[in-house]
Amino acid sequence: MRKQRNILLLGGSGFIGKQLAFALANRGWQVTVPSRRPHRNRELLVHPNIRLLEANITDSNELNKLCEGQQAVINLVGILHERRKGDFRRYHVDFIKAVVEACSDGGIKRLLHVSALGADQATGSSLYLRSKGEGENLLHTFGQRGLHVTSFQPSVVFGKDDDFINRFAGILKLFFGYFPLACPNSKLAPVYVGDLVEKMVNAIDNRETYAKRYTVCGPEVFTLRQILELIIDTLQLPVRVMPLNNGLSRLQALILQNLPGKLFTMDNYRSLQTENVCTDGDHCETSLRQYLKGLPAMFGNKHNYDSFRREYPQPGNPEEHL
Ligand SMILES: NC(=O)c1ccc[n+]([C@@H]2O[C@H](COP(=O)([O-])OP(=O)(O)OC[C@H]3O[C@@H](n4cnc5c(N)ncnc54)[C@H](OP(=O)(O)O)[C@@H]3O)[C@@H](O)[C@H]2O)c1
Repeated sequence: MRKQRNILLLGGSGFIGKQLAFALANRGWQVTVPSRRPHRNRELLVHPNIRLLEANITDSNELNKLCEGQQAVINLVGILHERRKGDFRRYHVDFIKAVVEACSDGGIKRLLHVSALGADQATGSSLYLRSKGEGENLLHTFGQRGLHVTSFQPSVVFGKDDDFINRFAGILKLFFGYFPLACPNSKLAPVYVGDLVEKMVNAIDNRETYAKRYTVCGPEVFTLRQILELIIDTLQLPVRVMPLNNGLSRLQALILQNLPGKLFTMDNYRSLQTENVCTDGDHCETSLRQYLKGLPAMFGNKHNYDSFRREYPQPGNPEEHL
């Protein structure tokens, strides 16, 4: 019988992390998920192979302790906007240094990391993308000595409990008439969380993935406007998208970044100036269009269910779906 293996999932209480925790646990890994607020993530405890505990992973002593006895570490910690100045550097760069050190102190040989599509230390269009790129570079540079690193750069990720489709759906439900949308022509290739998670789980034991960086995209390319129209169509909402031009998009970001919740910031605006699509590599299979179509089916709408079944899966050129 194969010896039980342990894995530490940093950021395992987040949207992607939870899905990954269950996928790993189902494959027999003993998964440790540290969280600042474990009481909010109790659903993880239904799986006997998942251990959820309260920890401050930014404290190097606690991090070192968490690494004891682990065979692998996966890092998903990341933020989309700064609460305090310097947070991008703290969580996307400094924290990575601490993780690499903790892995090396703990004799851990395998490290997987989730970066972001467009992450580039030198040319990233936003602080988010530049800090993500810097962290990733650091990992691949210092990770070479005895630590096998693989990183993933997904486009925007969708699935149950995501903060993308769900957030827009929640906001759109509050609108009647027109919804003013910033950066309507930004291009994205939404990737299904299950597809990303499968790639990651399969990579852990695959030596060919060592020292590699993978871009991860879904099968379709949409503009942000098209995605919102899909959501509106799916939920049959009485609202239409009002695309904002560049000046008004910036103005919206300037206003919203100063309001509680920071729904949209100037840095988010800058990230959206980079096309979030893959130029090479395999594209994942699950279609956002089909996924959204399938949602009402799950709530008993027979017409939607029948058309979902007829059309899924949909082979061929993804662009044809648009
Ligand atoms: N979702 C996407 O569309 C997408 C696209 C491209 C790249 N990514 C990257 O993928 C990774 C995971 O994304 P996600 O959407 O799953 O994120 P998420 O739901 O926001 O989860 C973030 C995780 O990071 C932890 N975390 C955040 N700030 C922390 C802090 N200050 N101290 C300690 N822990 C902290 C949280 O743990 P607690 O339980 O302690 O709060 C949580 O588990 C991120 O690095 C993100 O940049 C995501």
